[in-house]
Amino acid sequence: MHGAAPELAVATLADGRRLAVRTLTPDEAPRALEIVQRAFAARPRIGARAQAFSDDADGFRRVAASGGAFAATLDGEPVGVTLVTHRDDGSVRIGRVGVLAEHREQGVATFLITVILDLLASRGEAEVHLLARREYPHLRRWWEQHGFTVDGDEGDCHVMRRPLPVSVAVPDADAMRALGQRLAGLFAPGDLVIATGDLGAGKTTLTQGIGAGLGVEGPVISPTFVLARVHRSVTGGPDLVHVDAYRLGSFAELDDLDLDASLPASVTLVEWGAGVAEQLASDRLHIDIRRGLDPTDETRWVFLTPFGTRFDRAALAAAAKENP
Ligand SMILES: Nc1ncnc2c1ncn2[C@@H]1O[C@H](COP(=O)(O)OP(=O)(O)OP(=O)(O)O)[C@@H](O)[C@H]1O
Ligand SMILES: [Mg+2]
Repeated sequence: MHGAAPELAVATLADGRRLAVRTLTPDEAPRALEIVQRAFAARPRIGARAQAFSDDADGFRRVAASGGAFAATLDGEPVGVTLVTHRDDGSVRIGRVGVLAEHREQGVATFLITVILDLLASRGEAEVHLLARREYPHLRRWWEQHGFTVDGDEGDCHVMRRPLPVSVAVPDADAMRALGQRLAGLFAPGDLVIATGDLGAGKTTLTQGIGAGLGVEGPVISPTFVLARVHRSVTGGPDLVHVDAYRLGSFAELDDLDLDASLPASVTLVEWGAGVAEQLASDRLHIDIRRGLDPTDETRWVFLTPFGTRFDRAALAAAAKENP
């Protein structure tokens, strides 16, 4: 689109269409408002009318002028919108997430939100929140899948919050092990770490470094066929319980491993644990490992997100940096 803002991220859908995220200019405010209102109108009407229907283009224009209006585009055409606003109390709110009904179920909203969360994290924001209408339980579940948890109520909405990650680029496997070793210095008995990332992302490699840092018996290898392996400490510290949840479909199956028995005295790391292991502890560290777009580049991006109060962001940021 002529004169449009540069794209923040691009992906290609299975059918070859180009999915991108970019900021919206103030001139595009009326179109953005229309997308949000059409998206919200497609939801079944329960209870009071959504506030979005009282929005006007001027409000959208003001948010766009502050750089806070974003669009997901398909082959260049905006099909989804979200607004990011900085509140007077310094907090950051995501709102008005809407994708046109005819473009749902293609990962547009997930891509949009993932890009926005990455952007906010890269700007050094520590947390975001949003309001989710209580009468739409599926909305709450969708946001929970994206790391948000309900933290109180406001009017007819849940207030949902999500801490944002500290990120670090890791050039090779040795650097990944070194990062694990530095992170181990922050761990104490009872800690839960949930590691995510595609096959071969580097979850086990990171765990090898954590094992070395904790001073546990090795070797730390992929626990794929064992599901859970206990590495005893040789230094009088906590054991490392290394779990692979790849084949586990539910919390019930994870529960069968009796991790809560070993949890208090150990450091428990669950590969592929997102969506099943959260129930083990509300205080936990999520580690997400991603590759860049260039397949010849072995650099991994590691995102460290502290949930609860146990892990301190500043300490994580210090551990993420290489030792001088
Ligand atoms: N920057 C990097 N960080 C981590 N590993 C890397 C990096 N570059 C290359 N590698 C290699 O990628 C592979 C990562 O494998 P690893 O078993 O750690 O992944 P995983 O996430 O545990 O996979 P799975 O989901 O199959 O358990 C290793 O062979 C490692 O040497
Ligand atoms: Mg592994």
